[in-house]
Amino acid sequence: MYIEADSVRKKKEIKLGAWVRSNRPVFARRDLNFLLRTLFDKDSGYALFDEVLDFRALGYLEKLKELYIEGLPLAYILGKEEFFGLIFLLKRGVFIPRCDTEVVVERALELIHREEIYYVLDLCCGTGCISIAIDKTKEKRLKIFASDISQKALQSSSVNKRSHKSSVNFIQSNLLSAFKDRIFDLIVSNPPYIEENYFKDNHFLRYEPQEALRAGEDGLSFIKNIISDARLILKKNGFLVIEMGFAQKDSIERVLCDYEDWQVIEWFRDYSGNWRGVILKLG
Ligand SMILES: C[S@@+](CC[C@H](N)C(=O)[O-])C[C@H]1O[C@@H](n2cnc3c(N)ncnc32)[C@H](O)[C@@H]1O
Repeated sequence: MYIEADSVRKKKEIKLGAWVRSNRPVFARRDLNFLLRTLFDKDSGYALFDEVLDFRALGYLEKLKELYIEGLPLAYILGKEEFFGLIFLLKRGVFIPRCDTEVVVERALELIHREEIYYVLDLCCGTGCISIAIDKTKEKRLKIFASDISQKALQSSSVNKRSHKSSVNFIQSNLLSAFKDRIFDLIVSNPPYIEENYFKDNHFLRYEPQEALRAGEDGLSFIKNIISDARLILKKNGFLVIEMGFAQKDSIERVLCDYEDWQVIEWFRDYSGNWRGVILKLG
């Protein structure tokens, strides 16, 4: 009996390599690589292709695949995402960090390196990916604050603060309301910036928290607010680095016409070549 059962089990054995080969078309290449690295805890999951998947592992991968096909982002399935070479933990209800935002961190780090910058605020921080990436990469002492209105985002950022042994101070705040008496040298922000029309026939972002995305008819309600109010808590010659949608450059240029004290230092693009943000200096 035992031998029979064992031989039946053996026939059903499937190796990780075979599972990956047959499911490769299901996953985006980046997702599949991240999945293998996450589940098998190696730099390259490919080293483990000869491993036989036990019943539980196979069941888990099949369930995961089902959720992925339904459209649930891999970051929510795994509870983590990679950003700027660091792993950020998150749950449903918290915005997933995007690699497009890494250029915002790069610009902030260049400014920090070059300018007299010591007090930094990451506004609308989500998982804390921008502020923690700055904290873990900077080359000088900084006092970094990060804020979000969402309790779920702050729970996730405090988990990430612990896992990265970061010294960022996370604070709950409706935009700048908690910071009236602080003077920062640099404010960096990836705020909500999607216009209402986008949601009419696009379900791509349906699993993510709507308050992290929606920004009124023109997608600029947060950006306009930040351009106006950041001036009140930035020191003279301080900087604002703000992420935007790739089609928003012209409309933000028009908004800036109303503010003589902002000087545009640079419009910058993301790795795909799309306009992604602007660096402003307060005159
Ligand atoms: C596009 S997500 C960016 C999150 C994170 N900075 C990142 O790059 O992954 C925007 C964030 O703004 C937060 N948010 C929305 N409304 C806010 C408000 N009134 N005050 C502060 N944060 C807000 C959301 O909770 C969300 O975490």
